Amino acid sequence: MQTTIAILPGDGIGTEVTREAVKVLRAVEQKFGHQFELPEALIGGAGLDAEDDPFPQQTADICADATAVLLGAVGGPKWDSVATEKRPEKGLLRLRAALDVFANLRPVAPHPILADASPLRADLLQGVDIMVVRELTGGIYFGEKERTADSATDVCTYTRSEIERVLRIAGKLAQGRRQKVTSVDKSNVLETSRLWREVTNELMPREFGDLELEHLLVDAAAMHLLSRPADFDVIVTENMFGDILTDEASMLAGSMGMLPSASLNDGARGLYEPIHGSAPDIAGQNKANPCGTILSAAMLLRLSLGLEEEAASVENAVNQVLSDGLRTGDIAKPGEAVVNTADMGSAIAAAIDAAN
Ligand code: IPM
Ligand code: MG
Repeated sequence: MQTTIAILPGDGIGTEVTREAVKVLRAVEQKFGHQFELPEALIGGAGLDAEDDPFPQQTADICADATAVLLGAVGGPKWDSVATEKRPEKGLLRLRAALDVFANLRPVAPHPILADASPLRADLLQGVDIMVVRELTGGIYFGEKERTADSATDVCTYTRSEIERVLRIAGKLAQGRRQKVTSVDKSNVLETSRLWREVTNELMPREFGDLELEHLLVDAAAMHLLSRPADFDVIVTENMFGDILTDEASMLAGSMGMLPSASLNDGARGLYEPIHGSAPDIAGQNKANPCGTILSAAMLLRLSLGLEEEAASVENAVNQVLSDGLRTGDIAKPGEAVVNTADMGSAIAAAIDAAN
């Protein structure tokens, strides 16, 4: 089988973690007899530096031709003062919009062996297995912006159909899980949230009557994520709330570096990226945790290529090296030996190769 996966390393640690994910994809290729084409393309600050565009046309073309896209991270202090339209993050938003990947799946299933890496008590983490579905191509991220010297405006708009399509993804996921959907909004203040709740209350009983439906205001959800994380199954929410809540939720898993994500449209095409950023403070030091990106590659194999066994082999390999005691700095206990990014990636690739 010949398949094209576009590799977009981006900026900062993005280049380091995607290199390890490519190693792992090559190991899968070998092990299972596939052929992956892995063309690389520029995005974010790297695109801006080389092509004066954070989402160069050539990158758009490569992504449009690929079955799936694997991305590292974008941004960094070097580009902090560039114009809004040229910011590295704008490149990522344009990519998400171009692929129409409106549903961003961010699973949070802490590995019990990493319980010590979380600031939360181990007893609270027991049984935590959350799937956050973040709306990714609408809301305040994509609304009109205005700026004068003394005032600034960001418009937040949602349409009924944008809300319906992401709710359907959340509902289908919950049907295959623990049958519960928590919808998060700010309907006591925001008009967009009142529409969100209204649409949710119409669609869920009609199309997913078998599921338990809970509504939470986003401020309360932020608290409940820490006080009763095990009660959540699928959480569905708008773009910005999902961005914020998933950084918070990553602490349940011990580190942002552990969390993968999949961004999906209505078809099989997907964009896969870790939830962390470009981490300028540790970039270029071979210190970053590649697990989030490697687990994103596993989601890619499963969701865009339909390669379930291959996906599971990657996830098992990650579990295996963690069980073997390998730790990057972000998940190590104080005083514990740490491995670097490249060694972590190589160990995971070797575990895939060695599995029966
Ligand atoms: C994320 C990131 C991005 C976002 C940034 C880099 C634009 O924080 O994927 O969560 O806000 O969506
Ligand atoms: Mg974020």
